Amino acid sequence: MKVDVLLGLQWGDEGKGKIVDYLANNYDIVARFQGGPNAGHTLKFDGKKFVLHTVPSGIFRDNLLNVIGNGVVIDPITLKKEIQNLEDADVDYKDRLLVARKAHLILPTHRLMDAASEAAKGKAKIGSTLKGIGPTYMDKTGRNGIRVGDVHLPNFKERYKALRKKHLKLVQMYPAVDFDLEAEETKWFECLETLKSLKHVDGEYYINQALKDGKKILAEGAQGSMLDIDFGTYPFVTSSNTISSGVCNGLGIAPSKIGEVIGITKAYCTRVGGGPFPTELDNKIGEFLRSEGGEFGATTGRPRRCGWIDLPQLKYTIMLNGVTQLVVTKIDVLNNFESLQACNQYQYNGGIHEQLPYDINNIQVVPLYQSHSGWQQSLDGITKFEDLPATAKDYIHSLEKDLEVPVTMISTGPEREKLILKNVSEMIS
Ligand code: GDP
Ligand code: IMO
Ligand code: MG
Repeated sequence: MKVDVLLGLQWGDEGKGKIVDYLANNYDIVARFQGGPNAGHTLKFDGKKFVLHTVPSGIFRDNLLNVIGNGVVIDPITLKKEIQNLEDADVDYKDRLLVARKAHLILPTHRLMDAASEAAKGKAKIGSTLKGIGPTYMDKTGRNGIRVGDVHLPNFKERYKALRKKHLKLVQMYPAVDFDLEAEETKWFECLETLKSLKHVDGEYYINQALKDGKKILAEGAQGSMLDIDFGTYPFVTSSNTISSGVCNGLGIAPSKIGEVIGITKAYCTRVGGGPFPTELDNKIGEFLRSEGGEFGATTGRPRRCGWIDLPQLKYTIMLNGVTQLVVTKIDVLNNFESLQACNQYQYNGGIHEQLPYDINNIQVVPLYQSHSGWQQSLDGITKFEDLPATAKDYIHSLEKDLEVPVTMISTGPEREKLILKNVSEMIS
């Protein structure tokens, strides 16, 4: 068996949670492989709404196992809140939520450092979610981090104190920020007990054995490929490999074990936080997309920046990930447009280009657009591709043609059932 991967092709919030929740029924295990509580994955079903940050989006499906892989960074405080929400909703998670011992812990002082480092950057700030992601991955690569498996070691408290001390020294380099460390630490140690009570596994052995046993596994990405630490719009990125290669490190599987790579894109594009965004619409159209799409961060509540779909950007992330099928979400958000735009080229440095420039943060990239007719009607209740308005079908076909990947799912609303499975015969000809 192989591990299928589902991940975002833009700057995050493509609707990964909804699609993983839908697809989960076809799998035995859903596993997160990177990121942490900076993620906010929204699921809507049976009139209920859940936002998951650390827990994989397969948790609401009976009998399905959910693994938090070694590549994830975990804040016991956020995890406890998520678990509380599961308990409140009577979700039986106890034997279905497994945590890799090699996953790293986010300490309160990591969050303090995140806040202080962002404050020091002033106008150049990344727009981090301030969940401590960057400092925790820094300690991981700097070989100072504390891992889930360490919580049972006799010298855990000493290790904690030593790292805390180091952080407090470092933080003196930065401007002071408002942070009640004592209160956060008390909470952290309380919540650590919940993390301790979960099943801990040697994730790499566990996943590889599951594959041997013929189990079907779906790896759930967090953030989006344009936020990848190596290939995103650096430094306006997150601190992990969000692309498909991250699955190998984040779960402990070989590249030959990767199966389908399902890439998700919105029918338009959004970004939250700082950094370049060539097709951003800082105008009435952007505001309209924001209000129609409810584009406010699932983790921070910040308004998301909105713009048209960007095909050279998608070609880039399809290339990096080896995408084998595409999911297009939020097509309903475009219902009221007379015409739509899709960027197919960029103008910069006096020329026309189809690739993103290295220097994207410092040069003006002007998007060039191709226009498409809108459909100006509701898509509610449509469950078959052939029942979509002709112009909506044309839009999807043109994405398939330009991106050279078949679209296999089209999402028409936030609820689980608002999804069109596209017939294989409809695939790119
Ligand atoms: P994720 O981080 O990729 O899981 O995405 P988020 O949950 O942060 O953001 C996606 C938002 O769009 C959530 O509010 C979803 O409920 C919502 N959503 C997902 N798919 C659709 C869709 O097809 N149409 C509409 N209108 N909303 C959707
Ligand atoms: P999901 O999984 C959208 C963005 C932040 C910031 C940058 C760095 O819900 O798609 P960090 O907290 O990692 O230091 O922030 O990355 N960011 C996200 N944007 N969706 C996410 O996750 C994000 N996680 C981080 O806004 O610009
Ligand atoms: Mg999100």
